[in-house]
Amino acid sequence: GKALRIGVAGLGTVGGGVLKLLATHGELLTRRAGRPIQVTAVSARDRSRDRGIDLSGLRWHDNAADLAVDDGIDVLVELIGGSDGVAKQAVEAAIAAGKPVVTANKALLAHHGASLAARAEAAGVSLAYEAAVAGGIPAIKGLREGLAANNIREVHGILNGTCNYILTEMRTTGRDFADVLADAQRLGYAESDPSFDVDGVDAAHKLAVLTAVAFGVHVDFRSVHIEGIRHISALDIAYAQELGYRIRLLGIARRTEDGIEQRVHPCMVPISSPIGATDGVFNAVVADGDFVDKVVLVGRGAGEGPTASAVVADLVDIARGRSTPTFGVPASALEVAKASPISNR
Ligand code: HSE
Repeated sequence: GKALRIGVAGLGTVGGGVLKLLATHGELLTRRAGRPIQVTAVSARDRSRDRGIDLSGLRWHDNAADLAVDDGIDVLVELIGGSDGVAKQAVEAAIAAGKPVVTANKALLAHHGASLAARAEAAGVSLAYEAAVAGGIPAIKGLREGLAANNIREVHGILNGTCNYILTEMRTTGRDFADVLADAQRLGYAESDPSFDVDGVDAAHKLAVLTAVAFGVHVDFRSVHIEGIRHISALDIAYAQELGYRIRLLGIARRTEDGIEQRVHPCMVPISSPIGATDGVFNAVVADGDFVDKVVLVGRGAGEGPTASAVVADLVDIARGRSTPTFGVPASALEVAKASPISNR
């Protein structure tokens, strides 16, 4: 079939990973997608930086919004990040031009998810974002498609790989917080502003998106209670272990009688539980559905390969013509849910 032409905005860790994956798995993806998936154009701030990938033959734009309306692309892949500004402009421009969008941008979706979903729906294009939540784990598809027959009672999990890596390394190597964080940055796990990781904001972005999918409600970032891991000491971790627990930064969303409760904070969990057993950069997502009961998904939550894996899976869907409403129900049918006050602190 006719190639699906991709424009990639942002050539950082994930952008580089997407180009490498597409180059490595050309044949496999063509079989799965029914046609070739081809990068034709890119945009990034710095044209001269050596990224260790071959960019020859690709059209270069300095501005993502220009890339979005390039006639030579059928799909925009937005890997810039940030809840506003360049990323939002480019995504809106692509949708307005009738082009589907694949994004890994959880901040953008946490703040503007419902309105972007409405725009995409009005334009008749998909807005796909598997890579935005829990890295390589198919958490969105798992919840939205796999558990579509259930009333979801609760969804919770480890949603930030950097924090889980830091907590794990502090326990197993005794290294201090700052030292391990620098490691996570070097490995390409951390956000460009790592305070988003360690202060729980990144996990909260992902939780807000998961909540919308799980409960069919508007993405409501402002009602998420957020607490990070800066105040957790090596001693806290050691005491928890003595009692048979691990300290994990969890995101938890559930329906209560008072409304939808969303919170991110460190929790003590039994070592033998799936969450307790999930060490390192791995994430874990637990969904509790009324007919299926508990489902646990575990995998790498950050990094080049896992995140690229999720981005390209979305491209295969689009190449195939598969589409689902962004948050599982049409944007116009998303409820505006009452936010439950967090009463436990
Ligand atoms: N900084 C994020 C994390 C990247 O550590 O989980 C994946 O979204």
